Amino acid sequence: MKVLVVFYSTYGHVYRMAQAVAEGAKEVPGTEVTLRRVPETLSDEILGKMGALEAQKAMATVPVCKVDELPAADAIIFGTPTRFGNMCGQMRQFLDATGQLWAKGALVGKVGSVFASSATQHGGQESTILSFHTTLLHQGMVVVGLPYAFAGQMRIDEITGGSPYGASTIAGGQGQRMPSENELAAARFQGKHVAAIAAKLTR
Ligand SMILES: Cc1cc2nc3c(=O)[nH]c(=O)nc-3n(C[C@H](O)[C@H](O)[C@H](O)COP(=O)(O)O)c2cc1C
Repeated sequence: MKVLVVFYSTYGHVYRMAQAVAEGAKEVPGTEVTLRRVPETLSDEILGKMGALEAQKAMATVPVCKVDELPAADAIIFGTPTRFGNMCGQMRQFLDATGQLWAKGALVGKVGSVFASSATQHGGQESTILSFHTTLLHQGMVVVGLPYAFAGQMRIDEITGGSPYGASTIAGGQGQRMPSENELAAARFQGKHVAAIAAKLTR
């Protein structure tokens, strides 16, 4: 059973979450997990102006995903930072290159799931994940979120990301906050939950 974790990250927050999602998926026996990032669409000049070059270097070892890798997976878990309450353009561009897969129904029946990051607590994590689900449903995927069985999403003793729609992290206005233990636990839970469902579907 194969789980593909595909993400985009400018400053490393979604990348850290993606690693935790992959760790969680690996906990399901017999699961092969692959971590990929979608192609960057910004020039180094722009990334430099955004102060993202160091973070980009840290992610350079993660292979870039090709759309024709998607059909080999039984489950695909997507990670994106919020951009105005939606997925980032890099991810949108990647998904918009999957028209041929859609035409063939190549992703129909696969499990799809989404996690996210935003700068602020109410900056659009939920709208990002929910609007992302629309694309997964058009592809015929079986959408899976983060059930309340992950009780950490109900915490009010600390600021935390995470909702029934998927794991998420709050990066802070300057990207100064890395994912908390609770947010990483949510990501691991989501990875394991998706892998467990995909294992049942592929039995
Ligand atoms: C063009 C742009 C739009 C953004 N829009 C939002 C937004 O609507 N809400 C929010 O909270 N953060 C917003 N952010 C902040 C990013 O979501 C944040 O930098 C990201 O989640 C950090 O994750 P990363 O390090 O994996 O890239 C925006 C950032 C950029 C560059």
